[in-house]
Amino acid sequence: MSKPSVLVARAVFPEVLARLAEHFEVSDNQADATWSADELSARLAGRQGVFTTASERIDAALLARCPDLKIAANMAVGYNNFDLDAMSARGVLATNAPDVLTETTADFGFALLMATARRIAESEHYLRAGQWTKWSYDLFAGSDVHGATLGILGMGRIGQGIAKRGAHGFGMNVIYHNRSRLTPELEAECKARYVSKDELLQQADHLVLVLPYSPASHHAIGAAELAQMKPTATLINIARGGIVDDAALAAALKAKRIAAAGLDVFEGEPSVHPELLRVPNVVLTPHIASASVPTRLAMANLAADNLIGYLVHGKPLTPLNAAALNA
Ligand code: DGY
Repeated sequence: MSKPSVLVARAVFPEVLARLAEHFEVSDNQADATWSADELSARLAGRQGVFTTASERIDAALLARCPDLKIAANMAVGYNNFDLDAMSARGVLATNAPDVLTETTADFGFALLMATARRIAESEHYLRAGQWTKWSYDLFAGSDVHGATLGILGMGRIGQGIAKRGAHGFGMNVIYHNRSRLTPELEAECKARYVSKDELLQQADHLVLVLPYSPASHHAIGAAELAQMKPTATLINIARGGIVDDAALAAALKAKRIAAAGLDVFEGEPSVHPELLRVPNVVLTPHIASASVPTRLAMANLAADNLIGYLVHGKPLTPLNAAALNA
């Protein structure tokens, strides 16, 4: 019997490709070319599986051109690149890569918070530019992290990881807002107190965004929300572009309406709002929160395991729409 055929839409670890090749006819993109939606659907025609990252969109238009597709396995925990309803309607399974990146992403959220609060990037640029001539009492004086109020919007596994780092490592007062409240046991473990979104915005010294993107969370932080924050506050976004209104944030940073921001994700990335590139009080990183070598390998292996699990054994590990497919 011939092997099922899968497309790996982006460059990936060679050892993961080798694992896939044990089970499938594999077409890869080790040159990491950027494919249009048309190119992606053309390359996917006749194949049963696709290995995606958060950059490849799987929607009704693509599915209509790929009637043989049975599964799209995302090498990302976020899956706003998938139109789940369209996939379910076509009988295509969607899987993501949860859990394996939780601690690494929480580490990065905390690193970005510290870099932003303590102005590490801005001061490094100053030093490299040869501008440092003497010590002075207020040179790059920022805000404290220890003992401050840490606000978390979105309290899934990554949010909880950040809460624990803040509460247990830095003695922070942790508050959070989420669609649903944590159990008392989890709140105690995270030492986190549930508050309304308004209270979160008004009380946080450092506000970290970790909520999934959906039409409901589009511009969850815009001009009105930024206006509620303390002028000394920092805002950290490691969730998804589009959750923050980047134009409104750039204006707030320029006007010092809030003190600083740390951003790993952007509206329309890899483009970055030109005003964000101009203001000094923002730390910008290129969507790397989960990017430690072991974690990226674990994410890729989980996406591969989902392809193998479903197409070879009929049992995916981390399905998103299995119930809809079985309905
Ligand atoms: C994720 O896993 O969702 C990260 O943002 C990488 O895309």
